[in-house]
Amino acid sequence: MTHPADISPDDPLAWLSAELVDLARANLLRSPMEVTSRQGTSIGVRDRDGVEHRWVNFCSNNYLNLAGDPRIARAACEAIEQWGFGSGASRLISGTTSLHRQAERKLAEFLGTDDAVLLGTGYQTNVAAVTALAGEGDTVLLDKLDHASLIDAARQCGARIRVYPHGDVDRLAELLGREQATARRIFVVTDSLFSMDGDFAPLVEIVGLKRRHRFTLVVDEAHAIGIFGPRGRGIAELLGVSEGVDVIVGTASKALGGVGGFIAGKRVLIDALRNLARPFIFSTAPPAAAAAAVIAALRIVREEPERRERLLALCASLRQKLRAAQLISNSEFPIPNSQILPIVYGTEERALAAQRILLEHAQFAVAIRPPTVPRGTARIRISLMCDHTEADLDRLTEALLDAQSRLA
Ligand SMILES: Cc1ncc(COP(=O)(O)O)c(C=O)c1O
Repeated sequence: MTHPADISPDDPLAWLSAELVDLARANLLRSPMEVTSRQGTSIGVRDRDGVEHRWVNFCSNNYLNLAGDPRIARAACEAIEQWGFGSGASRLISGTTSLHRQAERKLAEFLGTDDAVLLGTGYQTNVAAVTALAGEGDTVLLDKLDHASLIDAARQCGARIRVYPHGDVDRLAELLGREQATARRIFVVTDSLFSMDGDFAPLVEIVGLKRRHRFTLVVDEAHAIGIFGPRGRGIAELLGVSEGVDVIVGTASKALGGVGGFIAGKRVLIDALRNLARPFIFSTAPPAAAAAAVIAALRIVREEPERRERLLALCASLRQKLRAAQLISNSEFPIPNSQILPIVYGTEERALAAQRILLEHAQFAVAIRPPTVPRGTARIRISLMCDHTEADLDRLTEALLDAQSRLA
């Protein structure tokens, strides 16, 4: 009898040690640092040697600084008091509380859609949306820099996948033309604000392609909801093309400071998703407390637009400071800008060295390495929060300058 060559008879998991050694050798091994405080612009972190630090946090998705907001914490606590923590069952069995439905109605109202459906995480939501809609015989067209959850969803759904170069609408149009001859249905699936690059998808042009091609447009507004557009609905609203987006996907884990993902759109879409989306059907409902937190966060976003105004002003200011310090060039990161700004160092080693230098300055911004970003583009991803100060940005700029001179 033959055996798989790489499975040891004594220890069937031994091959994993070799994998970990390879990752470490390639500067790709990861392990989380322990956060020891509430989320905010300054956080406590215990490093891997057990030493505790207080650092300025430039690497969260807590853009509106709501993750530690006492009003949201209170809403969640009250929900736990009333409903308990566990939800007991999946959404279609007995796990849908009045709070889940209320959060869905509030999300729909916020986003200007008929209805919405709430799931446990944004990742799960992207898998739910794409696998429910697309299948064998269909084509899914992905931007090269789409988030991993969209890529994984497309791989799972059984459709043919075609990837177009980042933001390349001409290539997308060419693929649409080619695929329409054979595909049953075509889905264009894109992030609206790209999580590791901070730039926008060309949604005006993509929606414009609907004049010549038939496709369903799925837009992941994970990093944009709560921040962009007059009502904080996201990049599609900012660019005036909300009507052209068929499926809006979002998450409560970033600007909304909570946890949970959602899909919003026409009634028929949401009714269909409740019946077809396997991650919705076959997973326990998120706690009612997560729904309560969404409701509280939406209220704050609506009532305190100054948070997103402050954030966007800081984004412009940081770009100005980095340009003045010649850390980014004039042509890079054009207006409109976003709260995400990558400084690309290339190799994993250089990005990790930059991270260490920033930490010496108490600036917490971690190195982002493959597979999160393409090989050769390891970077520090700076992300801003509305409560950072100009002085925070000045110190960050100084730290980045130090990294630049020491890594030259
Ligand atoms: C574009 C995008 N979509 C979806 C997700 C997943 O959201 P969540 O963290 O809520 O699972 C993320 C990030 O984590 C993201 O960057």
